[in-house]
Amino acid sequence: MGQFPITRTATPKARPSDDSLAFGKVMTDHMFLMNYEEGKGWFNPRIEPYGPLSLDPATSVLHYGQAIFDGLKAFRGDDGRIRLFRADRHAQRFDRSARIMSMPPLPVDLIRQSFDALVSVDADWVPRKAGTSLYLRPTIIATDVMLGVHPAHSYLYFLILSPVGSYYKEGVKPVRILASDSHVRAVRGGTGEAKTAANYAQSLAGQQDAAKAGYTQVLYLDGVHRKFLDEVGTMNIMVRIGDEVITPPLAGTILDGVTRASAIELMRDWGLKVQERAISIDEVMQAGRDGTLKEMWGTGTAAVVSPVGTIGYKGEDVLINGGTTGEVTQRLYDAITGIQYGRTNDPHGWTS
Ligand code: COI
Repeated sequence: MGQFPITRTATPKARPSDDSLAFGKVMTDHMFLMNYEEGKGWFNPRIEPYGPLSLDPATSVLHYGQAIFDGLKAFRGDDGRIRLFRADRHAQRFDRSARIMSMPPLPVDLIRQSFDALVSVDADWVPRKAGTSLYLRPTIIATDVMLGVHPAHSYLYFLILSPVGSYYKEGVKPVRILASDSHVRAVRGGTGEAKTAANYAQSLAGQQDAAKAGYTQVLYLDGVHRKFLDEVGTMNIMVRIGDEVITPPLAGTILDGVTRASAIELMRDWGLKVQERAISIDEVMQAGRDGTLKEMWGTGTAAVVSPVGTIGYKGEDVLINGGTTGEVTQRLYDAITGIQYGRTNDPHGWTS
């Protein structure tokens, strides 16, 4: 990875012990930076010591939120090798987010190379304990200094790294979710398909209301009919009714999740029937009442899969699989983490 100039830190930090890792609290010693200016394109890719950014208070991202990010992980396998999971797909999605947010197309190959380059500089930071990983957070912000509302002419790309623990201390743990009839995440034609800061800012109120009502996460219904499942918290949602797995389609309001895509591919490999179709909350609740709702889970990079033990809607709670982790949920968790840590073979070539 010698192609990027590297300035190494003179003051390396003490690395936290693998046992103490939570999610995203500690950053590594270095960061990758690159600038964009209209007419010039992307320039000056470089690795520098991790540190604060200096921004003029009138920088446009601080006012109008023209910002995108992505999130992927590097894993240290039992064989000692460090593997990135589906890095190409993450780089492609980052580019898709950029286009939705009126940013210039990204140099996807260069972005992809920045992942490898920075992970190799901070390779010691990839934790060793089972269930831990190094989270990569590529981000782009609009850096025009001016208060007019328009797509910026200049941008900053930065990539930072954070060693993270397993999302749940006890591994996969069922959560209680509340289907919201008052908060929506996105509507078609909006920014729901982009990994953009605003989607996460606006999710906080729904999350807070769900927490107040005694639930872990909010399940968003579509913004038009307030009827069809969209996403759960920051994850894609999947439901098993009988022997069929159903997940909302990529129709402009939900994120094209990398774990979602991987789960669909694996389940189809296993011969399970998977449908990408609109599914209403009434259908889910009815299946819960008549006992055909076998499993429900969220998928995302952070937690891989997150089983849903209880779903609440309009004052009614439905217990799923006795509130325990279902068989497909567990199988997906084991299969995906098996590939990520190099414990099983990788038939689709997802790790690199
Ligand atoms: C995910 O990986 O599931 C996320 O969306 C993570 C989050 C911290 C933004």
